[in-house]
Amino acid sequence: MTMTLGDRFGRSFPYLRLSVIDACNYSCTYCLPSGFRATSCRPPQLATDEIRRLLAAFALAGMRKVRITGGEPSLRRDLDEILAIAAAQPGIEKVAMTTNGCLLLRRVSAWKDAGLTHLNVSVDALERERFAAITGHDRLPDLLAGIDRALGLGFGAVKLNAVLLKGLNDDQLPAWLDYLRDRRVSLRFIELMRTGDNLEYFQRHHLRASVVEEKLRAGGWRELPRAVDAGPAREYAHPEFLGRIGIIAPYSKDFCAGCNRLRVTSTGDLRLCLFGEAGIPLRPLLQDDAQRDQLLATLGIQLGEKDAGHRLHEGETGLTSNLSTIGG
Ligand code: 5AD
Repeated sequence: MTMTLGDRFGRSFPYLRLSVIDACNYSCTYCLPSGFRATSCRPPQLATDEIRRLLAAFALAGMRKVRITGGEPSLRRDLDEILAIAAAQPGIEKVAMTTNGCLLLRRVSAWKDAGLTHLNVSVDALERERFAAITGHDRLPDLLAGIDRALGLGFGAVKLNAVLLKGLNDDQLPAWLDYLRDRRVSLRFIELMRTGDNLEYFQRHHLRASVVEEKLRAGGWRELPRAVDAGPAREYAHPEFLGRIGIIAPYSKDFCAGCNRLRVTSTGDLRLCLFGEAGIPLRPLLQDDAQRDQLLATLGIQLGEKDAGHRLHEGETGLTSNLSTIGG
């Protein structure tokens, strides 16, 4: 059975974000300020066989890009095997991963060899003290060395994520501009999203992305035309800079209209929207290769349920108490 995943709003879903672990070793103030705490009765994360069945089915259903997320995916000992499984599925053209970069310098070559094609690294500040204050870890120099190593490896793209935080990193733009002048890397400023856990923090530190965009335009940055298959970022370029700057503004109009992604949690629940109410357990259908058609049929039915957009504007954050279980 082959089909293309699509919904009743004419959107198709060539992009899957798969969380492979819920744990993270960082304690970023906007996500897990007290660090990750395992609950005693949490179900085990998906095993590599389950991941293989899941990715094979999604690939048959038209998925062309998978992003491995966490928690922090590099904490999984079998990460290289997971990357290789993803890369081996016919039809999957891009194997991406989002990491906090704690193992980047040591492991990035091995990840590339295993099949990783696109890399996103979280870098919330370019000043050492700021970085440590936001993430809880004084590891910026090692991280920047890891990024420079990655830039020499020939990835399809290396992107850096910085969550915009009023009063914490909103003075970093000049440092970022210096950084981007000679590096072929795309920086993404992500507007802070409200989650179930962070209401007070959100009220204190949320900064509208348009504030940064105004500064960019004033500095000669120009928005690039959007590619048809573009993600949610509005991308800016400047003739004097090798690097680019993308803006991800989940509160902006039409953010959801171009939604091309589905998510699966580290325990195998399908999530139709990052801020949706429902998680559909796929794990029971990942136990045997012979369940593939049933799995594909379930995916087809569930997509019929996907809503037109999130309800963040109404303050509804759905099941997402923070992004550690779902990786953004
Ligand atoms: N708002 C915006 N971005 C977030 N991330 C984690 N939590 C939030 C939030 N509440 C980002 C991380 C990482 C990516 C996976 O998601 O910084 O770059």
